[in-house]
Amino acid sequence: MWIRALRLTDFRNYERLELELEEGLNFFTGSNGSGKTSILEAVSYLAVARSLRGATDAEVVRWGSSSFGVGGDIVADGSVRSSTLRFTRGGKKEVTLDGEKQALLSDLVGVLRVAWFCPEDTWLTKGGPSERRKLLDMTLCQLDPAYLDALSNYRRTLRQRNEALLSWTPDDESEALVGVWSDRLLHYGSKVTAGRMRLLPRFAEAVAGFHRSISGSDALSLRYRSTAAGDAASGDEPPTEDKVRSCFADSLKRVAADERRRGFTLVGPHRDDLEVRLGERLLRTFGSQGQHRTAAIALKLGEAAVLDSDGRGVVVLLDDIMSELDDERAASLLELVGDLGQALMTSTRDAPAVAAGHRSRSFVVEAGGVKRQ
Ligand SMILES: Nc1ncnc2c1ncn2[C@@H]1O[C@H](COP(=O)(O)OP(=O)(O)O)[C@@H](O)[C@H]1O
Ligand SMILES: [Mg+2]
Repeated sequence: MWIRALRLTDFRNYERLELELEEGLNFFTGSNGSGKTSILEAVSYLAVARSLRGATDAEVVRWGSSSFGVGGDIVADGSVRSSTLRFTRGGKKEVTLDGEKQALLSDLVGVLRVAWFCPEDTWLTKGGPSERRKLLDMTLCQLDPAYLDALSNYRRTLRQRNEALLSWTPDDESEALVGVWSDRLLHYGSKVTAGRMRLLPRFAEAVAGFHRSISGSDALSLRYRSTAAGDAASGDEPPTEDKVRSCFADSLKRVAADERRRGFTLVGPHRDDLEVRLGERLLRTFGSQGQHRTAAIALKLGEAAVLDSDGRGVVVLLDDIMSELDDERAASLLELVGDLGQALMTSTRDAPAVAAGHRSRSFVVEAGGVKRQ
């Protein structure tokens, strides 16, 4: 799949922008603060209905405006689909597909898939578990609308259960309220946990493969550590949702007294981690800067490959990462990305040499305007 046209209104520093993109590599150059990342961010709205830099929707609205809109024409499987997303301050986000209003944001899932690379990716293996959970979630949300729904329901349920635990007192009424939220937590939480565990084998295999081809030798392995259903993970096959659910229920019983004393939920997918090991050792505790960078790229390429596993393609967004890489790594990354499909790439420097056989187009970004070079 690829984006043929992208349209922005009142998005970040763009009042209005219409871009015709190339099926291969699209290169955006411009000084800092000119609006390069914002273009990639707009693309992320069409894929996952939110900002990949983690901004709130209100932050994205052009200063002084009350709403923003993003639209795109996406070519996939030989046909073109037009999607739009509009956000109005104080209101909801609305999406349309081929001109028709959709009931759910998750109706957008699958129309466009993106994998995003940025310099902060090195935090994937250096930082805390939340970065790694986000990687799994971003992948799964783009593959499966049911996962996206389960995850957002889980987040909401978790907030409410934590409130109930915080105000818990030893009486039946209080206990019943926690019980209601526990049931929902189990319901959505086992979908989320099982989804991540199901993804893991093929994700780990793809990541290890890319890591081998970039680094030459070292073995990178991934393991999902579940706080709620650790026991379900024994065996070669990923556990079923039912199995996860019963382990999760046991875990909740085990920590019941603790949770009521401390006032928050102690087990569940919000506390899990994706362990990344280089050889036998945890990368997080001993990795060098270069090892973190290589691992980060392998993780992201693995994500892209999994997103493309049905062969429909994935749009790769490379935000300012070429300057971080030496020439050899940059060239091999471009090569790998070229095979995945369309790429949108930003840099403050000039366009890189593109391998023969890949189509490319260059743009210059200047203070909220984009010119084709
Ligand atoms: N909501 C907004 N409205 C208007 N301008 C914004 C908004 N948010 C950010 N900006 C400005 O938009 C510009 C573009 O930022 P960005 O896309 O991150 O640039 P680049 O990636 O090229 O460095 C910045 O100068 C920033 O100050
Ligand atoms: Mg930027």
